[in-house]
Amino acid sequence: MLEINNITVTFETDEGIVKAVDNVSFHIDRNEIVGLVGESGCGKSVTALSILRLIPLPYGRIETGEILFYGKNLLDLNPKEMRKIRGRAISMIFQEPGSALSPLHTIGRQMVETILLHKDITGKEAWNIAETWLEKVQISDPRERMFAYPYQLSGGMQQRVMIAMALMLEPDLVIADEPTTALDVTIQAQVFELVREMRRFNTSMLLITHDMGVIWEMCDRVLVMYASRVVEEGNRDDIFSKPTHPYTIGLLESIPKLSAPPSRGDKGGYRLKAIPGQVPSALNYPSGCHFFDRCPDAFDRCRNEKPKLIDLGNGHKAACFLAEK
Ligand SMILES: Nc1ncnc2c1ncn2[C@@H]1O[C@H](COP(=O)(O)OP(=O)(O)OP(=O)(O)O)[C@@H](O)[C@H]1O
Ligand SMILES: [Mg+2]
Repeated sequence: MLEINNITVTFETDEGIVKAVDNVSFHIDRNEIVGLVGESGCGKSVTALSILRLIPLPYGRIETGEILFYGKNLLDLNPKEMRKIRGRAISMIFQEPGSALSPLHTIGRQMVETILLHKDITGKEAWNIAETWLEKVQISDPRERMFAYPYQLSGGMQQRVMIAMALMLEPDLVIADEPTTALDVTIQAQVFELVREMRRFNTSMLLITHDMGVIWEMCDRVLVMYASRVVEEGNRDDIFSKPTHPYTIGLLESIPKLSAPPSRGDKGGYRLKAIPGQVPSALNYPSGCHFFDRCPDAFDRCRNEKPKLIDLGNGHKAACFLAEK
């Protein structure tokens, strides 16, 4: 359904050119939930925004590559054609609901207008769809809430309205950028339940998160990004049972887990092993492997040569010279 080939995205800043996304390729099939995980600043949001062509112009640029949606390159579409895709065929859930809701209009009006923009139905029918979706995202008294302005709702409720708006047109693809970080855990679970249900309508999802636990719960396939590049890709079980890139291994080891029975002096029984070191600056990525500085297994070749994704079978790929062996 979606096939991204070799996209590179740069930003012109006062300090120089930032290469936010470097030669990234991946695909999403129908009905599939693909997780995109990686440390802050590695290019997850920029990748997501590129798909919808929402990279801020003129200083942000998609330099190379193609984004094929059902075989059509989205980068070739004019603004009007792109607007038709956005919201209807591909929708996005942002981390910050403020960016998606207008403060000037009621929730109901915003939802109905969006529906009418894309569907040839009556206002009354659109109103019913909107109300039903508010109910689905567990908003109490949906009928009354339709008349509320965003400021009258709590942050968590605004987030759910935005999720309802992203799902109500039953898009082919939902891009969710850290959709539930602002929600408490119970609501988070309900939202994920809703997303799973959407799969019955063939909806696919690109789910961006920092949380490997969420990946395990939700995703069929996983893309691991590090400092602007995809370093590993594979189905969920392979990534968790046979992580190959040292960065993926580090990520999995940094999940807090219940250790063996706590020994004396061991306070919680949880251990968190973070990956030592820092992500390199996007202004100046190393000429070799971007993980070189932090990699426990790095050797000479990694310093000067960029490892390409190596096929390990079953769609599992890792960009590490060690994987060649
Ligand atoms: N509008 C912009 N102008 C300049 N640089 C930008 C802009 N947006 C993103 N970047 C840079 O691009 C790189 C990737 O940013 P991105 O927002 O995609 O990271 P992320 O993986 O989504 O991080 P987080 O987990 O914190 O959301 C970063 O180095 C960031 O500073
Ligand atoms: Mg982000």
